[in-house]
Amino acid sequence: MSPSSLQRLRDAIRDVPDFPQPGVLFKDITPVLADGKLLNLALDAMAEAVEGQRVDKVVGIDARGFIFGAPLAARLGCGFVPARKKGKLPWRTRGVDYALEYGSACLEMHEDAVQPNENVLLADDLLATGGTAGAALTLLQQTGANVLGSVFFIELAFLHGRGKLEPFGPVQAVVTF
Ligand code: PRP
Ligand code: MG
Repeated sequence: MSPSSLQRLRDAIRDVPDFPQPGVLFKDITPVLADGKLLNLALDAMAEAVEGQRVDKVVGIDARGFIFGAPLAARLGCGFVPARKKGKLPWRTRGVDYALEYGSACLEMHEDAVQPNENVLLADDLLATGGTAGAALTLLQQTGANVLGSVFFIELAFLHGRGKLEPFGPVQAVVTF
């Protein structure tokens, strides 16, 4: 990705102070999504992260990870698997609990969504503390699949989430703050 394209993406991400609570500066991706050229650039950059590698499945995390994960899979010519919040998937699932700042949550995948011999890439919109992606990677590791690593549109590097994810494989992000 050229420096000017990267700058266009970075400039389009909107800072929203005090959302969802006071003191938090929210990175709003909707201006990127609303611009077809920028959305394409973002997906190009995420696809570059696995250039030359065989990817069998992209796993996207409920909900904003679906926005990037499914078109990324289509671009790579592979399948897409949703990792969903508890109770949303209709068939047999495996799940993992993870800690949030306040309380806990659970991510689930269908038992047959990923096979042990498959090369699997995790995708989400944002890496913050790494709690969410760490849970998804733990779930993927339990399937016996070959985890290629994880790719994000945005990384909030000052939260040091990357350290939680690197034991599972390479971590790549398009825009870093
Ligand atoms: C957001 C974001 C990431 C996660 C990152 O999801 O989309 O999935 O937080 O935070 P972490 O690295 O600290 O775990 P969230 O569940 O808040 O909302 P969503 O359903 O809109 O994706
Ligand atoms: Mg999310």
